[in-house]
Amino acid sequence: MVSLIIANWKMNFTPEESINFCNNIVNQIDNSTTTNKLLIAPPIPYIAYLAQKFQSLSFCAQNVSVHEGYGAYTGEYSSRILKNSGIDYCLVGHSERRELLGESNDMVKSKVQNCLNVDITPIICIGEPIEVRQHGKHKDFLRRQIIESIPSTKKKLIIAYEPLWAIGSGMTPSISELKETFGVINSITGNTRLIYGGSVNQSNIDRILDLPDVGGVLVGKAALNYKSLIRMLSVNI
Ligand code: PGA
Repeated sequence: MVSLIIANWKMNFTPEESINFCNNIVNQIDNSTTTNKLLIAPPIPYIAYLAQKFQSLSFCAQNVSVHEGYGAYTGEYSSRILKNSGIDYCLVGHSERRELLGESNDMVKSKVQNCLNVDITPIICIGEPIEVRQHGKHKDFLRRQIIESIPSTKKKLIIAYEPLWAIGSGMTPSISELKETFGVINSITGNTRLIYGGSVNQSNIDRILDLPDVGGVLVGKAALNYKSLIRMLSVNI
């Protein structure tokens, strides 16, 4: 199965480093052994340039405005502007935005709808904090996040399950925890592609992608190194 590997660069790299990274990917990727589909999510000022220069790569925005179209919203960029910049995918509701920038389920829902309106596939991030899991309330928490942040639609969307305690921590849920959680998400969302994020790296990617409900991974730290990203792209499940 072709899995989606999303490289979330977050707020990293100079323009030159971002170009070198993409050059390395394009030049060193061996299409005969690369089984998975790569999406790169760079900082927004680089994205139009990279999308134009590297037309064989696919790019993903890390965020989008709650406002649609065009207008007097200083510092914002809409799904229309992203689409016009060559973007077909967008992360929405990443936990760093929910936690640090006060992004609510309502805001996430509007952003998802704005993406769908211009045929950008939203990748909606959900995930519970550690205390919620410790109290055994993660299923209810995730159910609520899904119901409140995802509009009902027949259009294509992707859900990224990223437990907050796994992001950047080096910890990942056990396989049985992942199976249980993905089963719960699947029972609510039906036919939607589900991916996992949180401390994915070259050593654990194959056991995560081996899970039946998991159609890809969202990778932060380990995707800042192009060699490790290339190895992850070649994992064949
Ligand atoms: P990480 O980040 O791989 O560094 O844990 C994942 C993410 O934040 O999407």
